Amino acid sequence: MRHLLSAGALNREQAIAILDTAIQMERVNTREIKKLPTLRGKTVVNLFFEDSTRTRTSFEVAAKRLSADVINFTAKGSSVSKGESLKDTAQTLQAMGADGVIIRHHASGAAHTLATSEWIDASIINAGDGTHEHPTQALLDAYTLRQHLRANEPGADLAGLKVAIVGDIAHSRVARSNLLLLKTLGADVYLIAPATLLPAALAATAAGHYYSLDQAISEQKFDAIMMLRVQSERMTASFFPSEREYARIWGLNGDRLAKLHPDTIVMHPGPMNRGLEIDAIAADSPRSVILAQVANGVSVRMAVLYHLLAGGSEIE
Ligand code: NCD
Repeated sequence: MRHLLSAGALNREQAIAILDTAIQMERVNTREIKKLPTLRGKTVVNLFFEDSTRTRTSFEVAAKRLSADVINFTAKGSSVSKGESLKDTAQTLQAMGADGVIIRHHASGAAHTLATSEWIDASIINAGDGTHEHPTQALLDAYTLRQHLRANEPGADLAGLKVAIVGDIAHSRVARSNLLLLKTLGADVYLIAPATLLPAALAATAAGHYYSLDQAISEQKFDAIMMLRVQSERMTASFFPSEREYARIWGLNGDRLAKLHPDTIVMHPGPMNRGLEIDAIAADSPRSVILAQVANGVSVRMAVLYHLLAGGSEIE
């Protein structure tokens, strides 16, 4: 494996290998000295063309815990045309000797463009490209599911788990990557959204789909419910009448939480719009694993960096 561009490119064995490595990384992250020498001498660049806090810092912490040198390159505000600026930036990073580039870009396909270009030799990790994919988010979600709903034993997959993904699926790279990866790991993924936000082509690849959250909750016993942020910044049209109505019909609130099976865990990739797709009762309930997702993000990204950049060296 040289690049990580799509969750769909991972087969079951590769995905499980990353999750298994993440177990070891989690152990490192609970030690007093949270550091391994694995990537000493390697340079990792965080190339972010879009706003981000948790993903960028998560990758930064992960790379630093593996002793890599980390450069943050935040390209926001650049007025150069897209293709040209990406090429120029890539060639600059190549000249500086980057070994790994973590890219977040508003254009779907940007990570792929970089990986298949002649501009740069580094390993490319897609940290979110437009509305397309966000593979490390899917991996950390899979890890969180395995941790809470399976024994998190090496080799374990997610066979038989029922996972609901709810909300703005149309604009969500998190939904796309999760749908691909969770299916590879054996889970049944249900997509639940207003018809305006649920692309038919995606619905056709899910185990099932609903246009009503209440109906889905009454008919299915979900092991996990993943609420998606309403991505207002990507909306060029009106997809629902008002935020108030969205919260009322689509929000995970205390009432809906009470109707879910008592063991259902609540997930959200963050950042949350509290009061819109999720309210405080659901987000802060003991069934919420949202902060575990953040913590697991570091371990999983360490595992990804290890698999791509350490060249098979042993974890010490
Ligand atoms: C997600 C993203 O950027 O795609 N967030 C994240 O990576 N933490 C989801 C979102 O922005 O809603």
